[in-house]
Amino acid sequence: MYRTTTCGELRITDVNKQVTLAGWVQRVRKMGGMTFIDLRDRYGITQLAFDQSNPAQAALFDEANKLGREFVIQATGTVRERFSKNDQLPTGDIEIEVTALKVLNPAAVPPFTIEDDTDGGDDLRMRYRYLDLRRQCVRRNLELRHKMAFEVRSYLDKQGFLEVETPVLVNSTPEGARDFVVPSRMNPGTFYALPQSPQILKQLLMVSGFDRYFQIVKCFRDEDLRADRQPEFTQIDCEMSFVEQEDILEMFEGMTRHLFKTIKNIDLPRLPRMTWHDAMKYYGSDKPDTRFEMRFVELMDILQGFGFSVFDNAAYIGGICAKGAAGYSRKQIDQLTDFVKRPQIGAKGLVYARVEQDGTVKSSVDKFYSQQTLQSMKAAFNAEPGDLILILSGDDADKTRKQLSELRLEMGSQLGLRDKNKYSCLWVVDFPMYEWSDEEQRLMAMHHPFTSPKPEDIPLLDTNPAAVRANAYDMVINGVEVGGGSIRIHDAKLQEKVFEILGFTPEQAQAKFGFLMNAFKYGAPPHGGLAYGLDRFVSLFAGLDSIRDCIAFPKNNQGKDVMLGAPGPIDQKQFDELKIRVVEQE
Ligand code: AMO
Repeated sequence: MYRTTTCGELRITDVNKQVTLAGWVQRVRKMGGMTFIDLRDRYGITQLAFDQSNPAQAALFDEANKLGREFVIQATGTVRERFSKNDQLPTGDIEIEVTALKVLNPAAVPPFTIEDDTDGGDDLRMRYRYLDLRRQCVRRNLELRHKMAFEVRSYLDKQGFLEVETPVLVNSTPEGARDFVVPSRMNPGTFYALPQSPQILKQLLMVSGFDRYFQIVKCFRDEDLRADRQPEFTQIDCEMSFVEQEDILEMFEGMTRHLFKTIKNIDLPRLPRMTWHDAMKYYGSDKPDTRFEMRFVELMDILQGFGFSVFDNAAYIGGICAKGAAGYSRKQIDQLTDFVKRPQIGAKGLVYARVEQDGTVKSSVDKFYSQQTLQSMKAAFNAEPGDLILILSGDDADKTRKQLSELRLEMGSQLGLRDKNKYSCLWVVDFPMYEWSDEEQRLMAMHHPFTSPKPEDIPLLDTNPAAVRANAYDMVINGVEVGGGSIRIHDAKLQEKVFEILGFTPEQAQAKFGFLMNAFKYGAPPHGGLAYGLDRFVSLFAGLDSIRDCIAFPKNNQGKDVMLGAPGPIDQKQFDELKIRVVEQE
């Protein structure tokens, strides 16, 4: 037997027990005649003690001093109370007086220290991810991930959902992101695509009568990467039959509540709902961070027509009120101006107004506005003495709202209003069916082409498709879109019409989705569903800045796994088998 106990379980009540432990040497501390070793495994750290003056340990003392970091060892000994205790460690009251020591495997010096506070940079840690994963802070995220996936399965199983696996080698589908493709050897010149989600397959499972389906499943999207995006990520993918939007929101609010309770011991209040329209109007974002208020106030009526040409020519003027921030210095405001002018944000400038202690308003554009106008503005914000009003304007209302949204988030961060331990969840509902794409010069599905319009908006499909609202919803937590879904179209005729508006000819729609529309002819139940991003959900619970940190082997921002060297070249033989001829790029 390699061990009787793990490195995380011994306590003061175990004193005098004979134990054998196995693990990695985290640290060797030589203190004159005493040597201490921190022995680590997945469960914790236990201190091993070697005393040169103890005749029973004299030989072991020399052996212990020869051990290097990350050696794999086995130690047998007696549990004793520590002389100087460590209240940072659960095992910090005890140590092991070692009576036998065996090196199970020596180790090369690791390229960085394997401790929470490591000296390893990002790239180095990713190159040696298997060592990085030994660090407790990293491992803890994966333990949390396991627990969350387990609780999801437990909840959905109790609700009668069946986990069904769907294939990974599927077909390329238009809309959505770019596909990852896989050449087929047996069918030269043709390609599989990796699924961006099992959307169509789960709908077909509903046609098959599975009624309640879920799958914790890898999805693949070849898109630009960000902190909350990986090329392969995991969805908690769900679909239900004979449901309306309300049934789905209820079921999955329940799942979210279950996760908050079992994992975080938080009793979640009922989730508020916000229409997509209001989210854009008051927060400039379809995923508003509602941990703090700072809603947008539109100022066109109040500030236009006083000779300030920037505002007079604007299609949108709006602002936010930062409570208690009137003390911002000129320098801080200049920095905010630089922030909104960065190319990623793209505002032209920033107007500010301070509410003084006596209630008067001092603005950066005072020469254009009377105190009376500024007071009307103050009233529109419900601003009080000590508040700072920040205003943006622009000739494109949507773009300006997006810029103001970035400014709002920045102010929220600067004022400490985005506490990672505080959670604010909501449903955003009534998304538009379509959004205009400048790139494609046509309407695109905002969620996906299988999403059902709101029944009352169906007549608008013929007259004003851009105004049609969908039965689509997102769950947003702390400004992160953790999940989204919709009620689906289950009527072949309506589906055809939606494809038509998206610019597919009947032949194209038939070629791409014929099997789905055909399936709908054989008795498709009304159905709908949603998918959560598991990586995003775990990162929120773990308080991480990037979803990478809760993925065992993530890709970097260039989509590479630097440890595996993926993506990498393949042999000419493989190209030949696939009948692919490589053309040199200039
Ligand atoms: P959607 O495309 O909104 O919907 O994806 C669902 C959820 O998956 C997560 N997500 C991602 N997470 C990490 N990296 C990515 N690149 C990434 N892309 C998406 C998000 C998102 O909310 N089939 C539909 C769902 C449905 O209608 O049932 C779908 O895939 O958290």
